[in-house]
Amino acid sequence: MSARIAAAAVLLTAFVLIAAGCVVGPSRTALERDNPVRPLTAPPLGMEEFFAEAPQQPDPARARLGRWLFYDARLSADGTVSCATCHRPDHAFSEPLAVSVGVGGRTGRRKAMSIVNLAARTTLVDTPELERSHAFFWDGRVVGLDAQVLRPLADPTEMAMQLPAAVARLDGIRGYRQYFRDAFGTATISPDRVGAAIADYVRTLRSGGSAYDRWAAGDASAMSVAAQRGSDIFFFRGNCASCHAGFNFSDGRYSNLGIGWDAAAGTFRDDGRLAVTGNPADRGRFKTPALRDVTRHAPYMHDGSLATLRDVVAFYGRGGTPNPWRTQRLRPLGLTAQDIDDLIAFLEALDSDRVADVAPRVFPQ
Ligand code: HEC
Ligand code: HEC
Repeated sequence: MSARIAAAAVLLTAFVLIAAGCVVGPSRTALERDNPVRPLTAPPLGMEEFFAEAPQQPDPARARLGRWLFYDARLSADGTVSCATCHRPDHAFSEPLAVSVGVGGRTGRRKAMSIVNLAARTTLVDTPELERSHAFFWDGRVVGLDAQVLRPLADPTEMAMQLPAAVARLDGIRGYRQYFRDAFGTATISPDRVGAAIADYVRTLRSGGSAYDRWAAGDASAMSVAAQRGSDIFFFRGNCASCHAGFNFSDGRYSNLGIGWDAAAGTFRDDGRLAVTGNPADRGRFKTPALRDVTRHAPYMHDGSLATLRDVVAFYGRGGTPNPWRTQRLRPLGLTAQDIDDLIAFLEALDSDRVADVAPRVFPQ
């Protein structure tokens, strides 16, 4: 008899624990062990000056909250898509697809670019205008990271979740309240706070410490001889650095290389910057992408139309794709087979020594 009661008690306890687990979710200890508040560390080698220029340092409590939100698919309409679906940690926060697939399998029209090193943007010394250096997307249509990170939520081809619905969804997840309080002082959840938290997480994603950085810092053996020859093509003979300039290898400007030109129709499949400015000279122009971790960005360009770095180098070797608006700065480069290998070796030397982050394993419930 007593054995039966004991067995029943064990069962009941187990049931209560399971039921409680469903409602309360992982304990704070478990959550915070998996996703602790991480103090801001020193920037990676080679990126010290770049990050010193950052207009805003990430707040560690907000970045921790933002880390959960970034990977949380409950922020999408059908609960299947998070930011990390398209910005994957192991692909330098880009993805191995030419165009993104969002909620319900709907496809966008552009490639998800890498989003590391966004805390500071390359500003050319002669043009301090915030507008240019802090504009986001391939066509620069959004200014300011906090505003930018909210766009994909509402985009019907991405997460398809209007902001009020997203806020209501988060409001229903009790476990998040404590972390909004830690980050902002009160447990109120608002679009601005969601944007600020995700943006601060994105600000912590940094890339540097590559073979190139060690070489540039004076370690002559850090980069292969082929990559060293490739650096000469990149910075001088091939003129790549006239656009891929600065510590992050982007000048933040827009250029027409001819990517997406449909010669038969005489049009671009995507007009790029033109749609933002209305200036005919901007037809087919796209923002210079940063080249850190570039081996992990494939396929390349705003439409993912070039599969490999070899394809990219061959494209530049030809001087891009002729069209009436192509930049004057491209010309056929007459690269030999060895030049091509060398330039690829240099691009490979831009990979950082570590992946910027990985997904958390447990989430507030
Ligand atoms: C369905 C895929 C998809 C999802 C989900 C998605 N993105 Fe993106 N992201 C893209 C694409 C595609 C672009 C480029 C769009 C363009 O240029 O028009 C982009 C661009 C960006 C950029 C601009 C980077 C730059 O250098 O200009 C940031 C920042 C960004 N996404 C952050 C986020 C955040 C934060 C989330 C989650 C709230 C998110 N994305 C969700 C596909 C996605
Ligand atoms: C006139 C400015 C300019 C010059 C010069 C230039 N680039 Fe680019 N680069 C761009 C732009 C703009 C894009 C994106 C184009 C698009 O998607 O339409 C790009 C894209 C790339 C990409 C793809 C990156 C990604 O994440 O998809 C690589 C790699 C690259 N360039 C390497 C080079 C190399 C190597 C050279 C020299 C041979 C070079 N670039 C010269 C402006 C330039």
